Amino acid sequence: MLSELKKIEENALGEIKTAEKLRELEEVRIKYLGKKGLLTQMLRSLGSLPAEKRPEAGGTANVIRKAIEEEIENKTRELESSSLDVRLREERLDITLPGTKKELGRLHPLRVTENKMADIFVAMGFDIVEGPEIETSHNNFDALNAPPDHPSRDETDTFYISPSVVLRTQTSPVQIRAMQGSAPPIRIVSPGRVYRCDPPDATHSPVFHQLEGLVVDRGITLGDLKGTLNMFAKTMFGQATRTRLRPHNFPFTEPSVEVDFSCFSCGGKGCRLCKGEGWIEMLGAGMVHPNVLSGCGIDPEIYSGFAFGMGIERVAMLSYNISDMRLLYENDLRFLKQF
Ligand code: DAH
Repeated sequence: MLSELKKIEENALGEIKTAEKLRELEEVRIKYLGKKGLLTQMLRSLGSLPAEKRPEAGGTANVIRKAIEEEIENKTRELESSSLDVRLREERLDITLPGTKKELGRLHPLRVTENKMADIFVAMGFDIVEGPEIETSHNNFDALNAPPDHPSRDETDTFYISPSVVLRTQTSPVQIRAMQGSAPPIRIVSPGRVYRCDPPDATHSPVFHQLEGLVVDRGITLGDLKGTLNMFAKTMFGQATRTRLRPHNFPFTEPSVEVDFSCFSCGGKGCRLCKGEGWIEMLGAGMVHPNVLSGCGIDPEIYSGFAFGMGIERVAMLSYNISDMRLLYENDLRFLKQF
């Protein structure tokens, strides 16, 4: 009996020593000290020993039990602290490493330009309205007084969806919608995309942007147009900027003008930007044609108005000194990041 006990102790302590995980240690405990454990069974069988042998065997068994329990406890502590060490090592975070840089997006230079332009007119009391890019040819041409043989109606110039529906070639049809939709006084600007059958090059694109303006009220004159555009020119390009009107022809205005701004790069002396002219052609404008007013149910005997249309690309290219329009559409980040 005593030698069996010794054997159990030896085995148990050996297994405790080699246990590598807490789970293995628990298995060792159950194997020796559990309800059906080897040592437990030995203790139970003490009763079958002759009376004089029982005290010694019992005493030894209890000493062994204590020794095993103690070793398990020590080993448990050892394994717990080493598994904590492992976790601390494996889950170590180097908080001094630089973080992942998040790149912030930014507005496209065309959008920045459009916002700036629109804001200037909003400050003067204009409302911003938008119109559809798919437009009736009536609104895009007829209601704007374009004669039936006007060259811009040609299929080589305009994208037709059907004979009566086009991709708008200008933002001017928004004038028609504004005048049909509300009575004077009207004071709106309308930025948006327009479409023309132009192959892309440095100064053309089949899709580009315009900003349309329209004012209709009693007693509106060409002087109001000039004053409004002066204000725009100075705010957009600097206080020294002047404007100049040249006679022109648009079907929807009478009189019609083309408007030049004095060169904001050289101040009018002549440089590369203005090609030595001192002036830069900026936009088309005029007094709303009486036919256009009456076609929209506004009496030209009572009301008058001015209108203008400006290319947003042109303003952006001049503002930022961009020489090729295609740069605005390629979305090359190296280009866009400069703005
Ligand atoms: N719609 C013209 C164009 O696309 C620009 C324009 C000229 C608009 C004169 C106007 C205007 O409202 O009065 O070239």
